[in-house]
Amino acid sequence: MKTPKRLQPLVDEGLIDEVIRPLMSGKEADVYIVRCGDDVRCAKIYKEADKRSFKKAVEYREGRKGRNSRRTRAMEKGSNYGRQEQEQAWQNAEVDALFRLANAGVRVPTPYGCFDGVLLMELITDEAGYVAPRLNDVSLTAEMATAHHALVMKDVQRMLCAGLIHGDLSEFNVLLDHTGPVIIDLPQAVDAAANNNAKRMLLRDVNNMTQYYGQFAPELLRSKYAQEMWLKFESGDLLPDTELTGQFVESEHSADIESVLAEIQAAFEEEQDRKARIQAETEDEY
Ligand SMILES: Nc1ncnc2c1ncn2[C@@H]1O[C@H](COP(=O)(O)OP(=O)(O)OP(=O)(O)O)[C@@H](O)[C@H]1O
Ligand SMILES: [Mg+2]
Repeated sequence: MKTPKRLQPLVDEGLIDEVIRPLMSGKEADVYIVRCGDDVRCAKIYKEADKRSFKKAVEYREGRKGRNSRRTRAMEKGSNYGRQEQEQAWQNAEVDALFRLANAGVRVPTPYGCFDGVLLMELITDEAGYVAPRLNDVSLTAEMATAHHALVMKDVQRMLCAGLIHGDLSEFNVLLDHTGPVIIDLPQAVDAAANNNAKRMLLRDVNNMTQYYGQFAPELLRSKYAQEMWLKFESGDLLPDTELTGQFVESEHSADIESVLAEIQAAFEEEQDRKARIQAETEDEY
């Protein structure tokens, strides 16, 4: 097919040899199937900010660090330069998350890099080599649903141990290949330790997945992995191989721990803010 304008620079650079066909046009990106040498891959072209429909960007961005504080402040002020930086940060967030998660053993598409606002990654396929379906497009037996729910919970645990929460996990952002679920679509991944919405997002992500698999295996609906994971994560006791039970009893004791931890966290954040303000002010003097 004719090469789309945004993919031309990658063709010129020799990163893509041929554009095979468009795959999907999503809310935030257009996805194409491309050939790179002997490999068939996936190219995700990010839409520009004004064409995206992702409304809650601010909530997700919180806690993300710019490479320097001048840049971070420009991003916060929303100046022209700041907006460009924000675009770059948005585009790089997904490739960064993919590298980090692939390293942590989470099943995600293998990333090959992000160039000129285009993410090149592994094309996820089914056994026959066709593009893998989204969970939303398949129906599972109870046994499969139970097994795959466990795989996804483990991947969410590995992600959390790697410091990230997906933030938009649902049956639309998980594909099914011959080995099981593959998590995609990570530009909004949030920093688990620095974002005040982290716990809420983790609960929402896990709940979405549990509701989905629970249609096929209703006993899963009673599990409480998110609460269990978060409590262990906050107290520094969550490791990738920590065995979770999916059970969580909201005892007075754990409520106490939670509120003490919340207070410590708030005091820590206040101190970080104070230091950042001092730093910003001294920099402004130059
Ligand atoms: N690596 C991949 N392998 C196979 N298919 C993919 C891959 N990445 C994305 N897709 C397909 O493209 C669709 C859009 O990708 P993605 O979810 O990353 O973009 P998006 O613009 O955020 O989409 P949306 O806003 O609709 O969720 C996916 O639902 C999936 O069907
Ligand atoms: Mg998506």
